[in-house]
Amino acid sequence: MEHVELTVADLLLRPWSDEDAPAVRDALNDTAIAQWNPQGGGPIDDAAALLWVRRRADWSAGDHASLAVTAATGGELLGSVSLHHIRHGDASIGYWTVPAARGRGVAVRAVSRLTGWAFADLRLHRIELCHAVANPASCRVADRAGYLAEGTLRESYRYGDGRRHDEHLHARLATDR
Ligand SMILES: CC(C)(COP(=O)(O)OP(=O)(O)OC[C@H]1O[C@@H](n2cnc3c(N)ncnc32)[C@H](O)[C@@H]1OP(=O)(O)O)[C@@H](O)C(=O)NCCC(=O)NCCS
Repeated sequence: MEHVELTVADLLLRPWSDEDAPAVRDALNDTAIAQWNPQGGGPIDDAAALLWVRRRADWSAGDHASLAVTAATGGELLGSVSLHHIRHGDASIGYWTVPAARGRGVAVRAVSRLTGWAFADLRLHRIELCHAVANPASCRVADRAGYLAEGTLRESYRYGDGRRHDEHLHARLATDR
């Protein structure tokens, strides 16, 4: 799959590069991101952050499309949004925003923009979004980005605290309004 850059309002969604590694290291060590987007293992050091951005910059397998969410002006890193497990018209979506960027619609706009691109350009049909029931901010992002709640998965994923949490499954179809 070819890299893309997407814009929405004051945001630029662009492929990851090595220069993002220090900001990614800090983000992945944020308490909330470490809890709800666990990477496995302990704290993220410089080498782990570099590996993370390089894996996400490599779209050659065609199974994921991962973008850094940045300010269109200034370029600082605000967050991450990714489609994973792209296969046969299906995918799942994940995201985080850095603490300083939260509460101003960055996640909703980034998720909505990547979703629109995935339906229009990748011709996907269904995208799933899972979040822990204990993470209401993520539930709000899902709702506001048009991902309908479909049910609760029991103890379906082990999060950063080492515990299995119940999750809400949301999904959006290309045919949804
Ligand atoms: C969840 C997260 C991505 C939201 O990012 P964001 O850029 O702040 O999200 P937005 O500003 O686009 O929207 C957040 C919405 O959640 C709401 N919200 C925030 N904290 C909340 C809480 N504790 N309970 C309920 N709603 C909450 C906001 O009010 C807003 O809704 P509104 O616009 O209707 O008022 C961000 O907080 C984050 O990265 N958290 C840690 C990692 C994480 O949870 N990742 C997702 C894993 S599934």
